[in-house]
Amino acid sequence: MAARLDKMLYGAAQGLRVSWYWGQKLLAAAASEPEALPEELRRRMPDRARLIRDLRRLLERDWRNIEAGYYRLPVDLIANPLPRLRRSRLFFADLRRVEARRRAGDNSEIFRSLRHSPYPRYYLQNFHFQTDGYLSRRSAELYDHQVEVLFGGAADAMRRQVLVPLHHELRQRGLDGTRLLDIACGTGRFLREVKNNYPRLAATALDLSPFYLAAAKHNLAPWSGVGFVAAPAEAAPFASARFDIITAIYLFHELPAKQRRLVAGEIARLLKPGGLFILLDSLQRGDEPEYDALIEQFPRRFHEPYFADYVREDLAALFGSAGLRAEGSELAYFSKLAVFRKPLRQKRGARPA
Ligand SMILES: C[S@@+](CC[C@H](N)C(=O)[O-])C[C@H]1O[C@@H](n2cnc3c(N)ncnc32)[C@H](O)[C@@H]1O
Repeated sequence: MAARLDKMLYGAAQGLRVSWYWGQKLLAAAASEPEALPEELRRRMPDRARLIRDLRRLLERDWRNIEAGYYRLPVDLIANPLPRLRRSRLFFADLRRVEARRRAGDNSEIFRSLRHSPYPRYYLQNFHFQTDGYLSRRSAELYDHQVEVLFGGAADAMRRQVLVPLHHELRQRGLDGTRLLDIACGTGRFLREVKNNYPRLAATALDLSPFYLAAAKHNLAPWSGVGFVAAPAEAAPFASARFDIITAIYLFHELPAKQRRLVAGEIARLLKPGGLFILLDSLQRGDEPEYDALIEQFPRRFHEPYFADYVREDLAALFGSAGLRAEGSELAYFSKLAVFRKPLRQKRGARPA
């Protein structure tokens, strides 16, 4: 009986959620200048019915995971509508500025105002043409809303797929003494779900943006046992072999190829032997051939300077050369979930992590 009620609640809440964000996706598209796509690309674009069918599949899978006990109902299943309304208002108020940057191809506003700051040059860009890049309170407040509109309400459900390998790993390890690090935690959307499921798990949130980290601190305030660290992922201020599990969600596609390698090396260094790394990031080219046109169009429309290179990256080779072994991967709508492990013993001749 309780399970049936939960299922009804989940279905109703997700239905409302998807309508809310898809509605805004359509409104935002109507308010933006249509993109002049090459005919060849336009012909290969998946149609809306396909996207909605695949989104429905993701939500069915999300529900099955909940039913199987891999994780609990989403933490904000029944959310206060007032903050959502406020963020929608801010989102539409900001849209004209985003559009102006997109039309002008201007991704350097943040670099012009912060060129003498200590942040790496590649980070000082208006990713997604968003206002202030990652470097303001306003950007941190709008970010999750922008991402949900982009994915038509699917972003949190895609992030939750990371909870499945996490569940299996924690069943083996137990919670006592286990340490998890979420690299590029953003505003803490994923860690909220982690703490909702494992309140006793010791977690560390790392991000380069002090503003996003402050938002994560606020969002994680109901839980204890979370540390917050503002630092670059390519030089994380922790001792080697400190963590049992590391996660990185939607970070790697935003890194230049060189930094991708540095961060992969850091992950291998920070993991204990036998430790697990879980990556969730964009689909790559050829993963879902009917989505390839979307993958080609995405970085043109939303400033994503390293995306085209990322979608061609051989992940097993990238993390393999850092000393991590691929354990498996699967697709989740627009995302790919991939799991790697640091071997208990280093192979002879391999570079130490
Ligand atoms: C696309 S967002 C993803 C955020 C979050 N993981 C999520 O699921 O929404 C990328 C995040 O990576 C952070 N970031 C980018 N480059 C970084 C770096 N070199 N070191 C640490 N964080 C970085 C940004 O500040 C931002 O919060």
